[in-house]
Amino acid sequence: MFDTSKRSNASAGWTRGYDLIMASDPTLTVCSDPAALAETAANLIIDAATEAVRERGRFMLCLAGGETPRKTYALLALPAFSERVRWDRTWAFFGDERVVPPDHAESNYRMAHETLLSRVPIPPAHILRMRGEEADADSAAAAYAASLTEVFGTRRGELPRFDLVLLGLGVDGHTASLFPGSPVLREVFRTVAAVHVAAAQIPQRLTLTFPVLNAAARVIFLVAGAEKAKIVKAVLSDQAVLPAAMVRPTDGELIWLADRAAAALHPIGGAR
Ligand code: 6PG
Repeated sequence: MFDTSKRSNASAGWTRGYDLIMASDPTLTVCSDPAALAETAANLIIDAATEAVRERGRFMLCLAGGETPRKTYALLALPAFSERVRWDRTWAFFGDERVVPPDHAESNYRMAHETLLSRVPIPPAHILRMRGEEADADSAAAAYAASLTEVFGTRRGELPRFDLVLLGLGVDGHTASLFPGSPVLREVFRTVAAVHVAAAQIPQRLTLTFPVLNAAARVIFLVAGAEKAKIVKAVLSDQAVLPAAMVRPTDGELIWLADRAAAALHPIGGAR
């Protein structure tokens, strides 16, 4: 179904704030095609959910937006997969959202709701939606940060630790709504920020920031398609400090799932 090749980095670090963080090594798993990637991702999500509920009594899942996760969410919603998840013990969050109403075609919430959340028995109160419909994006970001604190029960200065964060990769190296050159890349205190991305189809967005992404127990990137091959090579070969390369959980696992087309230019992914 796919070739698994561990890609171990020398423990690369980077400076965040005033200290060098030695981070986890990313592993690259190459799946034969988008369907195999979705199946691999769905099984990894179930594994993470099973472990989290067993060890902590609940599964705190952060969903990715964009188009790539659709296949994974739709598969996860099928009984053969969804019946292996304790949805009553699962909470669903979002890594980012476009500032649009939840029924808008470009809403990440709408995509996740259509493909997954409306098809599984997750309690509605366990779905924490970023309120993209709010006119004041900064207050929407602050409200979401407050909801993270409340649901995770974190104390002042403590970061919410997701059991699993799903992320996508843009062709420019962005992830969530953390885009190259954005001031939010240097955010070290806020967990959620409103950003304006002039080049994006929907410029106004809400996004989790690196502190909370890098506090996660596990991060999985889902990347598919030949158009991503160049950026996968750039991000994973440390050629450039791109936003996606700055996601390095300080005490967690980092998994890159790519289909063959997206991994084609990567030394491991292209090897046959
Ligand atoms: C968003 C996503 C974004 C996405 C990448 C990849 O709101 O746009 O959070 O980070 O994951 O742009 O998008 P595709 O999966 O559609 O290629």
